[in-house]
Amino acid sequence: MSHLVRDLPRHADETVTVTGWIAAVRVHARVAFLVLRDGTGTVQGVLVKSQLPADIWELSTSLTRESCVAMTGVVRPDPRAPGGHELTVSAVELIGAGEEFPIQPKEHGVEFLLDHRHLWLRSNLQRAGLRVRAEVEQAIHDFFYERDFVRIDTPILTGSIGESAGTLFETDYFGERAFLAQTGQLYAECACPAFRKVYCFGPTFRAEKSKTRRHLTEFWMIEPEVAFADSNDNMDLQEEFVCSIVARALERCGPELEVLERDPGRLEAVRPPFPRISYGEVVERLNAEGRGFEWGRDLGAIEETTVSSWFDRPVFVYNYPKEAKAFYMKENPDDARTVLCNDLLAPEGYGEIIGGSQREDDLDRLLARIREEELPEEAYDWYLDLRRYGTFPHSGFGLGLERTVAWITGRPHIRELVPFPRLINRLRP
Ligand code: 4AD
Ligand code: MG
Repeated sequence: MSHLVRDLPRHADETVTVTGWIAAVRVHARVAFLVLRDGTGTVQGVLVKSQLPADIWELSTSLTRESCVAMTGVVRPDPRAPGGHELTVSAVELIGAGEEFPIQPKEHGVEFLLDHRHLWLRSNLQRAGLRVRAEVEQAIHDFFYERDFVRIDTPILTGSIGESAGTLFETDYFGERAFLAQTGQLYAECACPAFRKVYCFGPTFRAEKSKTRRHLTEFWMIEPEVAFADSNDNMDLQEEFVCSIVARALERCGPELEVLERDPGRLEAVRPPFPRISYGEVVERLNAEGRGFEWGRDLGAIEETTVSSWFDRPVFVYNYPKEAKAFYMKENPDDARTVLCNDLLAPEGYGEIIGGSQREDDLDRLLARIREEELPEEAYDWYLDLRRYGTFPHSGFGLGLERTVAWITGRPHIRELVPFPRLINRLRP
């Protein structure tokens, strides 16, 4: 039976066997060092030539990086060693030899690394980032579970356009037009009268032509939907939610954030209340800075970065013009040119991490919006039924997982925060 590197401190002075992959080999005349990574940590094995059978010395000193081995030795406390312990090695067994590893400890181009994503996953920064992602995903489920939300899994294949016609992946569904889901929202809304508070969390798809550091064609989105919540309640929930997942990353991912060289002070500042500023105020302030921004346009990456630079924590921009947003948002009763919605902009130029809104609960207004947007009305009969059978005020939002984790980890591009990114020019590996 082999031991996990993580557990070695409990086995000081015992002989153990660890299994894993060779992260580094250093060979001197009389002593050699093998650094082994097992998925729970790394440990350095010390091999003394004079104390080992010749065949074990031969094998160990000819190992290539990423070969898979079992290494047996005595656990010795050593404050200088990573993890606080080393192994004085007595035996090494080769499980799977490694050919020369394509990724070497030197600078590689991004396209090269993405071509080798299946191998790149093993490197320090990638492991740290993906572990934070996994912790954040678990924190998301815990947050909603603890607050009595019911998880609803929504379909990936759909006949209805969830957001906009411009970014659809279309496929043939036995002779019918089908799309990969841009959002689970419309289905989550329909589950509200069944459970009151629900959420979905799954992959979503957008045929984004944009090649930016914020766009994937396949990304994961978490979408809660709450009956009897208005737009302000919706922002309150987003604030509590984002603070909670950031706090969880700080609490449980300290070693990973250190590997990523993420300044924890930036994340510690993420506390309520988040500033809330209306779209109208943003336009005035941008124009006061001489930006010449036209009322009615959606904020682009540049404007979002400017707005977030005004604050030290995430900021809500609320009540955008109708034409800048999706068809399902509720008209603002105080200004019919705008809708009751918000984006949440992350600090440090990470841009929009959440889009949310109160939903249009009036059948006629919703129908009018579907017609205005020239969406195929017949595909929404089921969605309109929600307004026919006991309509009710409700709100929800969608948080993009990769953008959020990119911000938390401080990585420059969201492609590193998903195990196998799908980008405009990349379907492999
Ligand atoms: O603002 P969006 O388009 O909102 C919706 O899809 C709503 N149906 C959500 C809801 O109310 N239930 O997208 C929500 C979030 C964005 O704020 C962003 O974080 C992320 O999804 N996102 C993307 N992430 C990566 N790549 C893309 N191409 C993304 N498009 C949106
Ligand atoms: Mg949006």
